[in-house]
Amino acid sequence: MIFESSIHLSVFSFDALRTLRFAFRQKLAWRRGIPRLIHEEKQHLFSYLDAKESRELEETEMSLRERYRLDAFAQASSVIDYRDNLSLLAALVELEEFLELPEKKISSLDIGSKNWNYVYGLKQFLKYACHGDGRQIDLCGVEVDGYGVYRDLYSRCDHAQAYVEQANGDGDRVEYRVDDFVTSHYGKMDIVTLFYPFLLEEALRSWGLPRRYFQPRNLLAKALSLLDVRGALIVTNQTGLEAERLNSHLEALNALVVAQVPMRFKLVHYWEQTHDRVISLIQKS
Ligand SMILES: C[S@@+](CC[C@H](N)C(=O)[O-])C[C@H]1O[C@@H](n2cnc3c(N)ncnc32)[C@H](O)[C@@H]1O
Repeated sequence: MIFESSIHLSVFSFDALRTLRFAFRQKLAWRRGIPRLIHEEKQHLFSYLDAKESRELEETEMSLRERYRLDAFAQASSVIDYRDNLSLLAALVELEEFLELPEKKISSLDIGSKNWNYVYGLKQFLKYACHGDGRQIDLCGVEVDGYGVYRDLYSRCDHAQAYVEQANGDGDRVEYRVDDFVTSHYGKMDIVTLFYPFLLEEALRSWGLPRRYFQPRNLLAKALSLLDVRGALIVTNQTGLEAERLNSHLEALNALVVAQVPMRFKLVHYWEQTHDRVISLIQKS
């Protein structure tokens, strides 16, 4: 009994600590300005693989670069950011055959955008997927914990603004907001994306968020409620267990899993940690 209550007490006090630290970050709302994005050469993008695999991935990179017009990004990005974007694009391409996108304009929301280092690839996918001819994109990223400070003393939000500037233009509107998605208001969307949402409480804890933000079903319900009639929700999960949790929430919410595909790419140097990842396309039934 005493043992049990001391466990409850320590769980409580860890959450109290996370809550305090989070409240401090929000109150401080640290901004230093917009950091300059670094550029690195892209000749040996896949040097962590053997020569044959590396050559194969270079071909994948060339085809993604051409199809989704990544030239400007390739010429103004770090190797890590570029590979992250390629990896996300390769996963999204797996869903293309199941997607139906409006011809002229897409409204889209990305939930839990972190520093949004993948916004360029995401926007280019929305612009050119499904035989898109460069449709107009209205893309918003929302992140509840936008004021964490990085080692370079810029905040997550500062970094996100740099990526937003890079992705903006071409008649598109890209913006990043620091807000709680569950309690904020949005209009109808053609595509809502949720990349690696917290479906297990320990994941949320390890990211330093207070327990009150662990609301996977509410989050999914709200994401689904924003979808236009033909709209789609795209979710990625880190593990099969998370995908199982996703499916059980979706079943309870009466949503339809149109496609669920493993993401077994070696486009990032940490590919061994990603072999369990899954991407899903979901619609309101
Ligand atoms: C595992 S991270 C994924 C980050 C990013 N989507 C990616 O693919 O790298 C989940 C993100 O969701 C954010 N998040 C969690 N609950 C949220 C909410 N209610 N509103 C907005 N963002 C939220 C977290 O702060 C965290 O940055």
